[in-house]
Amino acid sequence: MKIQLISMNSKTDRHSNPVLGWVAGACMMSGSFTSAAYAADIVNGGQLYQTYCQSCHGAQGKPFMPGAPDFTRGDGLMQADTALLVTIREGKNAMPSFRGILKDNQILDLIGHLRTFY
Ligand code: HEC
Repeated sequence: MKIQLISMNSKTDRHSNPVLGWVAGACMMSGSFTSAAYAADIVNGGQLYQTYCQSCHGAQGKPFMPGAPDFTRGDGLMQADTALLVTIREGKNAMPSFRGILKDNQILDLIGHLRTFY
């Protein structure tokens, strides 16, 4: 199921081998978390995005809010998942903190979804 979704995502053409990228991402994450390897669930991430993020960031990643990054241009996404996780959890300037609202694994699902915009 997940691999099917990722290959849908290869329509962006930018990632020459999305499946390998997914495997590498999953391996990297298993190194940084003590629990079993965690693969982001981008469908769940998409639902969370609609609820918590799209009011500012736009349904397709083009922001409504002045000053918010344009995810379709990759703004703000050129960093490791672990760095993005901290920013989304703690907030940044006009971007609110989601500490206590979203769990880390939900934020990782969201990050998986954000990466589909670019
Ligand atoms: C109230 C509006 C608002 C909401 C809601 C919001 N953001 Fe943001 N977000 C911003 C703004 C504004 C920035 C730019 C912050 C800056 O760089 O000063 C930003 C920046 C970001 C960045 C780039 C961070 C970086 O290091 O440059 C990411 C990733 C992000 N938001 C993800 C999310 C996610 C995921 C959600 C939902 C859980 C979310 N945002 C909800 C307004 C919002």
